[in-house]
Amino acid sequence: MLELHKVSRLFGGLQALDQVDMRISERRIVGLIGPNGAGKTTLINNISGLDHPTSGTIRLEGNEIHNLPPHRISGLGIARTYQNIRLFGEMTVLENLLISQHGRGRASVLDSLVFTPHFRAEERRLRDTAMQLLERFHLAGMAHQLAGNLPYGDQRRLEMARALATGPKLLLLDEPTAGMNPIETEQLGQQILRLRDEQLTVLVIEHDMSLIHQVCDEVYVLNFGQIIAHGTPEAIKHNPLVIEAYLGREEENELAVGERKG
Ligand SMILES: Nc1ncnc2c1ncn2[C@@H]1O[C@H](COP(=O)(O)OP(=O)(O)OP(=O)(O)O)[C@@H](O)[C@H]1O
Ligand SMILES: [Mg+2]
Repeated sequence: MLELHKVSRLFGGLQALDQVDMRISERRIVGLIGPNGAGKTTLINNISGLDHPTSGTIRLEGNEIHNLPPHRISGLGIARTYQNIRLFGEMTVLENLLISQHGRGRASVLDSLVFTPHFRAEERRLRDTAMQLLERFHLAGMAHQLAGNLPYGDQRRLEMARALATGPKLLLLDEPTAGMNPIETEQLGQQILRLRDEQLTVLVIEHDMSLIHQVCDEVYVLNFGQIIAHGTPEAIKHNPLVIEAYLGREEENELAVGERKG
């Protein structure tokens, strides 16, 4: 369903993405891992239209999408969450979902201006759908609280609910369990698995290898903007290139700490 061909992104002299080839088939849960700064978020930014490749092509169901703005890509059925949570903190939990559904309703502008029965029925339908999503993510009891007042884990789940409120076929998750405890992480894994049962396709960036093992059919590994491995979670775990990429960075970090101390 999604195909990246030789996608590169240069920031000045920095090659954040370097000839990335990737194929994501329908109803798969695909993991994207790699050390800090490997280019994972940049990749999702380029798929979702927030950023654009310097070269290369991105196709969704055969159509090029890499020059489209975010709202067009969203309209084609791609939704995402953000590594740094982006919610409307001064709006309620429910309003955050309703605003996300905007544009999905079938009532016309004229309907809304004169407030026809059709418009009212549409509003009710969107509200019901939003409440169902909140229930599913155990947020229904907080529907009328300000999103900014929710605990961190709840905000992460609200981000996912909000992305789903747009009715996507492909969901991009950027570190959805960051800041969650192991129990919350496992539960979020169950939610991700349920999405695949509902015919969705998921690309998930994650540092937590237990989550990767729990949910992913296949995994891509990025290092310095390049795909260095692709395979099952089990195969990736034993891949020497992957082990080296992670160890290499650890040594680098230790060195940096040592230098600072000295
Ligand atoms: N807008 C930008 N301008 C310049 N450099 C950028 C920009 N966005 C990202 N970079 C650089 O591109 C590289 C990849 O960053 P990116 O955020 O994609 O990494 P990441 O794999 O998501 O890392 P992390 O695990 O820390 O989230 C980094 O070196 C980063 O500093
Ligand atoms: Mg990132």
